[in-house]
Amino acid sequence: MKRIILFVLFFLCSTAALSAAGGQDVFPVDRDFYPYYPSLFKWEKSAATFTEPETCAGCHEKQYSEWNGSVHSLALRDPIYQGELNKGVKAVGHEIGRQCEGCHSAAAMMSGELKKPGLAGLSPLAMAGVSCDICHSVSGTTHTRTPARVPENGSLILSPGYDGTDGAHLVKRGPLKPSADCGGGFHECKESPLHGQADLCAGCHQVYHYEKHFPIEATYNEWKAGPYAQQGIHCQDCHMVDTDVFLKSADSFKKPERSEYRHYFSGVNYLLAYLSAQAATRAGDKEQAARAMKQYDMAVKRLQSAASLEIIPIYYDGQLQELKVKVSNLRAGHNLPTSLSNIRQMWLEITARDQNGTVVMSSGTVGKDGSLPPEVRIFNSDGMGSDFHFSAHPWVITAFSRHETIPPRGFKEVYYGIVALKGVKSLTVDARLRYRTADQKVAEELLAAVPIDIDLARDYGLTSVPQLPVVDMASTQLKITVRKP
Ligand code: HEC
Ligand code: HEC
Ligand code: HEC
Ligand code: HEC
Ligand code: HEC
Repeated sequence: MKRIILFVLFFLCSTAALSAAGGQDVFPVDRDFYPYYPSLFKWEKSAATFTEPETCAGCHEKQYSEWNGSVHSLALRDPIYQGELNKGVKAVGHEIGRQCEGCHSAAAMMSGELKKPGLAGLSPLAMAGVSCDICHSVSGTTHTRTPARVPENGSLILSPGYDGTDGAHLVKRGPLKPSADCGGGFHECKESPLHGQADLCAGCHQVYHYEKHFPIEATYNEWKAGPYAQQGIHCQDCHMVDTDVFLKSADSFKKPERSEYRHYFSGVNYLLAYLSAQAATRAGDKEQAARAMKQYDMAVKRLQSAASLEIIPIYYDGQLQELKVKVSNLRAGHNLPTSLSNIRQMWLEITARDQNGTVVMSSGTVGKDGSLPPEVRIFNSDGMGSDFHFSAHPWVITAFSRHETIPPRGFKEVYYGIVALKGVKSLTVDARLRYRTADQKVAEELLAAVPIDIDLARDYGLTSVPQLPVVDMASTQLKITVRKP
């Protein structure tokens, strides 16, 4: 029996070594079907090309002012993205750049305008990142034909228009039955059920390793496996509405009214909102700074409504032995945290004080240098490369050595042992669920790597990276006796 196992192991190892040596893909890839591989976007080309958002704004002022300042509008300019892209291109070459650029600025990736990291000399369309005409040109998906056979790395088909006998025609797709004057003579309209569904977002909200197709970010998969998908609550119903409507969708599983949809795409990235407000203020654009700060407030509110905490004392033989802390995912339609779970940090901070107010136990307090203590109870993932070493980089990560996130409407319990404490009669326990968009060291590393044409001091007023702001998502307090009452 042992021998058979050994033989099988040997066989598996040798085929793995062979395929690695031969540079074969883990999954077969049809490179004619996916001409921008490792990005899986497809472009149905015609004389009708992509339009920049400022043109759409002429007739859709409301949607434009909501989108402008959203994380989507910043997807290319985001300095943290640019720092990481720069590192990735240096490590792997520009082929990997296409994968990133597909999702962060699809039109400019496909046209070949993006030749290297950085922003110098780019067109307004390229700078606009995930702009109007990316989403409203989506005519279909290739989700079931990708190497991993699920949505990944931009598996969307973009068709900005078609060639008619009288020249180019633009076609914009949206959720509504077109009215007679739809498009105001500028574009034709096509009703698209896809625009009301998570499958539209899925193309970009599933980031897979460019070669091994390991799911590094899998927000759609998480949603799909959970109760919100079962009840027909899609990404749009929580992320394309105001905060109060999001709370309603999340709590009651009721779809928003048609008139309640907005283009804020509010998520959690308060750090990016803050940086873009700084940049707008420095550029003297007060209105833009106000829009960015609105995004900041929405992100913080969303985080503060996502989870709840409960402390439960556990006694053995009448003596307090453990504290159980229950962390529930109340309102995220996917795991908590989701997507960049290898970069984002959500952790528990616990402080217990005795009857005199003296701290007798603590865990998860941020250090002076912004680091978290080694014993911290943290919810996120640790990425590792094929050499089994830790990495935070998407071009390296082919597995998670730890993946601790909380599924939608689910919970996780964390236990803290209590050592016998002399003279302690009662404890006041404070628990906080804390969040930051990145580890201090990771943020410093990425911001230090921005391409030379981005000047953090000039553009954002950053001369060094200050301690990253932390948001308290939930907190609770419990007074307990050490002997069971
Ligand atoms: C399949 C689409 C997709 C691909 C491919 C992709 N990204 Fe992203 N990226 C996203 C999405 C979606 C987010 C936002 C996730 C979130 O905020 O939780 C994101 C966020 C990021 C962030 C965090 C930004 C911040 O402000 O916190 C960085 C950094 C980043 N991407 C870098 C890259 C790099 C480098 C590559 C190429 C190796 C890449 N991305 C490829 C979709 C993609
Ligand atoms: C990330 C994808 C995405 C981006 C970017 C985007 N939209 Fe939309 N848009 C949608 C979706 C999805 C809907 C449907 C929401 C719903 O059910 O009403 C929509 C709906 C619309 C509608 C129909 C009416 C309404 O507001 O519901 C218009 C008009 C529109 N968008 C214009 C724009 C313009 C103009 C921009 C750029 C300033 C833009 N969109 C950017 C995805 C996007
Ligand atoms: C000349 C004015 C004009 C311009 C420019 C314009 N649109 Fe429209 N669009 C309209 C009108 C009018 C409608 C009808 C619905 C309405 O009143 O909002 C419409 C409807 C839409 C819809 C809803 C379609 C549906 O059936 O759900 C979308 C999506 C849309 N436009 C996207 C865009 C995008 C993206 C751009 C820029 C590439 C753009 N529009 C530029 C006038 C315009
Ligand atoms: C029931 C409401 C709900 C639905 C449905 C939902 N979300 Fe979320 N989403 C949230 C909440 C709450 C948060 C903040 C907590 C978190 O990060 O998970 C969030 C956070 C996010 C973030 C930011 C994550 C980060 O840490 O940077 C992204 C990206 C996102 N959602 C995308 C999606 C996509 C894509 C879908 C559809 C497949 C979706 N969401 C469906 C409620 C929802
Ligand atoms: C063309 C690719 C693309 C599509 C389609 C797309 N997104 Fe995104 N989305 C991104 C990228 C890239 C980012 C992150 C940009 C960054 O952080 O630099 C992002 C960020 C977000 C965020 C903010 C996350 C945060 O941390 O704050 C939310 C929320 C979000 N998307 C929701 C949606 C929803 C809902 C849809 C579908 C209606 C959608 N997206 C469709 C590419 C896309």
